Amino acid sequence: MRLAISIVMALGLLATGVNAKTPYHDGTAEVIKPKDKDHPLGEVVSGYDFRKAMIRDVQDDDFSNPAMLVADYGEEQWTKVEGTAGKSMSDVFQGCAEVPLNAVGAVYPRYHSAGGKVMTLEQVINMCRETAMGAKPYKWESREMLGLTAFIKLQSRGSRMEVAIDGPASKTFARGEELYYTRFGQLDMSCAHCHEDNYGNYIRADMLSQGQTNGFPLYRLKWNGVGSVHRRFRGCLENIRAQKPPYGHEDLVALELYTAWRGNGLKVETPAYRN
Ligand code: HEC
Repeated sequence: MRLAISIVMALGLLATGVNAKTPYHDGTAEVIKPKDKDHPLGEVVSGYDFRKAMIRDVQDDDFSNPAMLVADYGEEQWTKVEGTAGKSMSDVFQGCAEVPLNAVGAVYPRYHSAGGKVMTLEQVINMCRETAMGAKPYKWESREMLGLTAFIKLQSRGSRMEVAIDGPASKTFARGEELYYTRFGQLDMSCAHCHEDNYGNYIRADMLSQGQTNGFPLYRLKWNGVGSVHRRFRGCLENIRAQKPPYGHEDLVALELYTAWRGNGLKVETPAYRN
């Protein structure tokens, strides 16, 4: 464990000086001061600001960003009539989401009163398909689901993340926080070791960000495609040789709520682009 951390630190120290070319390092990043007194971070910075210019340039240009094609595909699903009720998602979504369409990207995951628990956008979409459309649920990481979540969150692009963690969401939040600081896997590391203690430093060839979720779903070169927050979480768990809960597992939902809260105040950037 100590060894793993010192490798992270050593690589970081070696690399930051040489490659200090991100907005985070040159002071041009948007730095948010968290409103919440108990916030663990003194500054909240988007993952975008830890990436090199060639990656940011792609995200900045909707015509270059391949994630936009997936969002376009999502728009087709949005208006497609499916299921026994003869309706499309565009007909029924407003009722299912419980918040205006252009707020969804900023406030989800949230405690859903009809669902009776904290739900992610994927879960609300599937609930809506089953109950309001009479259609089959999508698979979590299907092109349809990724497209639709990208399309829906794109409607909130530019607004500030503002997930609620009080009241009925507080239990899920506490679980997410606990998980975030729990050491996992053969490397015996927690999310916080990388994304709180070492952001801005390099780990192998990758510069660590704060692990924010404001750009998801996003296109990743390594994936050669678009992926969800849960895919990213599972990838991070795999990297530390830990067990991965299945997509949609309540622990991943709790982590998603907790990490989204850590990013409150950041702009929704869906669909982002990463290496
Ligand atoms: C060994 C270090 C390490 C650990 C531990 C780790 N991650 Fe990551 N994570 C990375 C790296 C490397 C990346 C890609 C570069 C970056 O954005 O930090 C990443 C990326 C992410 C991203 C995407 C950020 C973006 O803007 O694209 C999220 C979200 C994330 N991690 C969440 C988590 C969570 C939640 C945990 C705990 C379950 C975790 N990570 C544990 C190394 C780690």
